Amino acid sequence: MITTVLLTPPDYYDIEYEINPWMHIENKVNRKKVTEEFENLKSIYKKLGLDVWIMDAQKDLPDMVYTANCGFVIDDLFIKSNYKFRQRRKESDFAEELFRNKNFKIVRLPENIFFEGQGDMFFRDGKFFLGFGKRSSRQAHDYIKDFIGQDPVSIEVNDPYFYHLDTCFAPIGKDTVVIKPTSLTRDGLDKIKKNFKHIIYAWDKDNPFMCANIVAVGDTVIAGKGIGPGMKKKLKERGFDTIETPMTEYFKGGGSVKCLTLEFFKSS
Ligand code: ARG
Repeated sequence: MITTVLLTPPDYYDIEYEINPWMHIENKVNRKKVTEEFENLKSIYKKLGLDVWIMDAQKDLPDMVYTANCGFVIDDLFIKSNYKFRQRRKESDFAEELFRNKNFKIVRLPENIFFEGQGDMFFRDGKFFLGFGKRSSRQAHDYIKDFIGQDPVSIEVNDPYFYHLDTCFAPIGKDTVVIKPTSLTRDGLDKIKKNFKHIIYAWDKDNPFMCANIVAVGDTVIAGKGIGPGMKKKLKERGFDTIETPMTEYFKGGGSVKCLTLEFFKSS
């Protein structure tokens, strides 16, 4: 179970450019609401007993709130992101500084290989999963494999609306994963079937964006408010309670609970 997460407050968050189909510059962020949404998420994590680290927001980097994308953390290793879009590139320098100050070992991929951190990479039960196709490069696999000392399971994402693996794939516990199958390729689905005994499928009626972009803390799943009742039932059947929290403002940028949360994974 994770014990620490990193979040970034929404001080400078707004929709200032459009790099995914959810973003519309005219759809501005409500400051009061977004502050409440952030505080709510933070207090949920604290109530669940997690250590919540905060990264300072930076002016002119509005998407920094999507902290999951700045890199990947396991034990004392930080794999730094190389963002695909120039608007976000500087974000991971601030994350690097934070992890350097905390004495993490920092590694990075060559500049021409894109890698968007926990937007596309997961660790669950000894296995790593790596998304590619929309944001992270397929070749990221070859470098990551050396950093972690094993082959990650590579899964292609092929839906412009579900552009990070964390928007359509959530390994939430032993042998259990939530996926939105229509955003994955046949090959990706085959690999998921090989690696998970219990697959919870998210269909359009389940509000797939919210119900796959989730974080599991033990047997509690934190999801954006609006997840369909059927999905909650499916989670309950697998032993998970769901906490829903409003995410309307973050949805404007194309993200929900998982995108905001950099989890500190532990290998044992
Ligand atoms: N506006 C951000 C982008 O398009 C949203 C990132 C969402 N993060 C995620 N982990 N899916 O890059």
